[in-house]
Amino acid sequence: MKKDLEQLKDDFLALVDKVTDRESLETLRNEFLGRKGKLKAAMKEMAQLADEERKAIGKIANEVKEAIEVAYGGQEETFKKLQREESMGKEWIDVTQPVIGGESRGSIHPVTQVQQELEDLFTSMGFIIADGPELESDYYNFTALNIPPTHPARDMQDTFYVEGADGVVMRTHTSSVQIRSMRRYGAPLRMVAPGRCFRNEATDVRHEHTFHQLEGMMIDKGISLSHMKGVLEIVARHLYGEETHIRLRPKFYPFVEPGVNGEVTCFLCKGDGCRLCKKTGWLEVFGAGMVHPNVLREGGVDPDEYSGFAFGFGLTRLVMLKYGIDDIRHLESGDLRFLKQF
Ligand code: DAH
Repeated sequence: MKKDLEQLKDDFLALVDKVTDRESLETLRNEFLGRKGKLKAAMKEMAQLADEERKAIGKIANEVKEAIEVAYGGQEETFKKLQREESMGKEWIDVTQPVIGGESRGSIHPVTQVQQELEDLFTSMGFIIADGPELESDYYNFTALNIPPTHPARDMQDTFYVEGADGVVMRTHTSSVQIRSMRRYGAPLRMVAPGRCFRNEATDVRHEHTFHQLEGMMIDKGISLSHMKGVLEIVARHLYGEETHIRLRPKFYPFVEPGVNGEVTCFLCKGDGCRLCKKTGWLEVFGAGMVHPNVLREGGVDPDEYSGFAFGFGLTRLVMLKYGIDDIRHLESGDLRFLKQF
């Protein structure tokens, strides 16, 4: 009888390794340990044994039962683990997997790319990023910038006036943010303001009604033209490389005195003269100057205490030069064949 019981255990151990799913495992367990199972049947025979022997066999029967339970439990755990892994496999999200149909995900507009690059550079020099509305008051766009209503300088910029809204214009430049920033933050001040501007242009490869500028301003005690040159040189070198120089030539802007027209060494010919720079060796990319006392006053800054410089980069122009874009109209076109290249 002892042999029979041991055989029972060996049979189970041999079979339990062969089952391939939980259902067959349960069936197998029932076959051995169930109410009508093999162990029960074997134990029925025990009844006929003498007391002493029954005790000994009973002990063996218990050991066999326990061994079968342990083997069963082990196998059950294996199946549970497999099941967990399987369902995990189904629910698994691979966050690094490229989006299905990801080729139509879009890209960052070249103007935004250059804008962000410049924002990084300026914030690293302690400038804040300021903002102003595109639909601007005549006052911020002109009057406060030392361009009174009758001033001929208003003619230099072909302004979009807004029908039915007196004194409101589509801002013609980002210089309007100069006044807004001074009033909001006071002096000392270091700010840049990138943004869209609008002019009533007859459009062609070089002219567009919508374009981007990046305005900048630095106000503090004792700020001079050499500070201005220093900062603009850093910008030029950042954009076009270490050997880049800048050239400042006098130019009239009502809101600065003196005002300059800013050029950088042509990055294509390195100053020798080529088609891009029209044989001059220089590329015109910004206007700048020392902030006019009237403008400081309008911004609530005392010109006897503070001075400062301001500059306006043609952001759109920088982008066209950087990427060799030959028609400005591509930039606002929304044409995917163009945009997908960036
Ligand atoms: N606002 C000028 C324009 O649109 C550019 C400019 C020139 C900005 C001189 C300035 C500046 O801040 O100082 O042509």
